Amino acid sequence: TARRLLSCCCSSKQQPRLSELSRDDFPANFVFGVATSAYQVEGAVLTDGRSMSIWDSFSHIPGNIYDGSTGDVACDHYHRYKSDTQLMVDLGIDAYRLSISWSRIFPDTTGAVNQAGVSFYNKVINDLVHKGIKPYLTLYHWDMPQHLENDPEVMGWRTKRIITHFVHFAETCFKLFGDRVKNWITINEIWSIAVDGYGFGTDAPGRCSAVSGTKKKVYTGDSATEPYIVAHNALLSHAAAVKVYREKFQPEQKGRIGMVANSKWYEPFSEQKEDIHAAERCLEFELAWILDPILMGDYPASMRRFVASRLPCLTEAESKELKGSVDFVGLNYYTANYAQNIKEEVNPSSRWYSTDRQAKLGCVGADGELIGETMGPADIGWIYNCPWGLPKLLGWMEARYGKREFEAHPIIIAENGCMDLELDLSLKKALHDEMRVKYLNGTLQHLSNAIKDYGYDVQGFFLWSLLDNFEWSSGLVCRFGLYYVDHQRGNRRYPKLSARWYQQLLSREGMQM
Ligand code: NOJ
Repeated sequence: TARRLLSCCCSSKQQPRLSELSRDDFPANFVFGVATSAYQVEGAVLTDGRSMSIWDSFSHIPGNIYDGSTGDVACDHYHRYKSDTQLMVDLGIDAYRLSISWSRIFPDTTGAVNQAGVSFYNKVINDLVHKGIKPYLTLYHWDMPQHLENDPEVMGWRTKRIITHFVHFAETCFKLFGDRVKNWITINEIWSIAVDGYGFGTDAPGRCSAVSGTKKKVYTGDSATEPYIVAHNALLSHAAAVKVYREKFQPEQKGRIGMVANSKWYEPFSEQKEDIHAAERCLEFELAWILDPILMGDYPASMRRFVASRLPCLTEAESKELKGSVDFVGLNYYTANYAQNIKEEVNPSSRWYSTDRQAKLGCVGADGELIGETMGPADIGWIYNCPWGLPKLLGWMEARYGKREFEAHPIIIAENGCMDLELDLSLKKALHDEMRVKYLNGTLQHLSNAIKDYGYDVQGFFLWSLLDNFEWSSGLVCRFGLYYVDHQRGNRRYPKLSARWYQQLLSREGMQM
């Protein structure tokens, strides 16, 4: 398939070199890609037998989404996947990280596979393979089927009974797509699922027991316990799916399987030991909460101490199944925060989190200066340009998990990117996204140096995101894409400056572009 050269969005005939780096700054087999997720891009929520997920219900409740939008149409990727994969060809990427909508495959309680849903993913995967782009498939990117959430026996992630359902879904996907898909991700960002869905209630299924942001929530869940239970059940589901893959599919299919965790870097607010400990605790309550069980077989000691009996215990068998349950670790890195020790609750709206973690957070600017309080998830400001946090995070992981564990598990940066600083930019303004180019150059520069200087085994980088898409509770007005999507006018795509930047970086023809 021919690759089209992206012309610059500025009128100048001169095409300046935007990328400070090239493929040569990374190891020979390093994989460059873009990432999306089903609910954020597909739309077509009632097409071909798909049933509702918790995000369909959640986004339709007034007040839940910043701009009142939903994922009903999103980027209409369901109907435009062919031209979207052509955009990927134009960029020159090696791989595409996408997710499967569970409720397209299993729309109801009968357990019958929906062939139309299967056929959609077959078409996408075949098209990618045909175009030379490797699919990285995420099984769960936040869209629990509503029927599993409603089932009083299952209650989504809240009971262990979800494990059987998740494994069945995973196994079905391995069977159906594993001949062509060689990179699997079980679950995306368990931390966000637990904290935002059950702690703050800002994400589906919107369970919490506190007032969140400016809007009143319906107080259903118990934010002091549910996030921990949910993360626990998700971890166990992950491990069970990996077991099945390894026993039944991996020997023949020869793929690999991992999971994606997210973390900010936390910088101590001062040199006092209390703040140094607070920063350490934040990393433990975010990254190690998920990775410790997977790489070491248990939760961090600090969590056991602060959360006590509300943190579920892993049985010996569970711990054994979890330990080593990844072939690679996916890491989503976006930004850094300061962490300051606190003794009391500072934010009553997040009772479980601030009291348990005992840290107050602040945001850091590009040069490490303190620039203010962390903003709420529906605001636009949670990402600050702190590319230096990524090598620090990798160094922290190496120190925590030991050189052996760390080296046995290669890392892929499964997401990195940024939203525009203003909401709902006009097309004209949005195309000149110099700030995104600066942000991405920064990340890749730091990543390349870290790989060269410390020999970290980082094998890939997936940019979030190909398209401006449905940014969860921040809606459609919060844009992360390399391509602008005109949601008002037929969802047409326009390459931003950053798309040209990526194309330049990935170009094998050197500087000619
Ligand atoms: C993490 C999530 O995986 C993705 O769905 C989200 O859109 C990005 N971060 C940006 O917030």
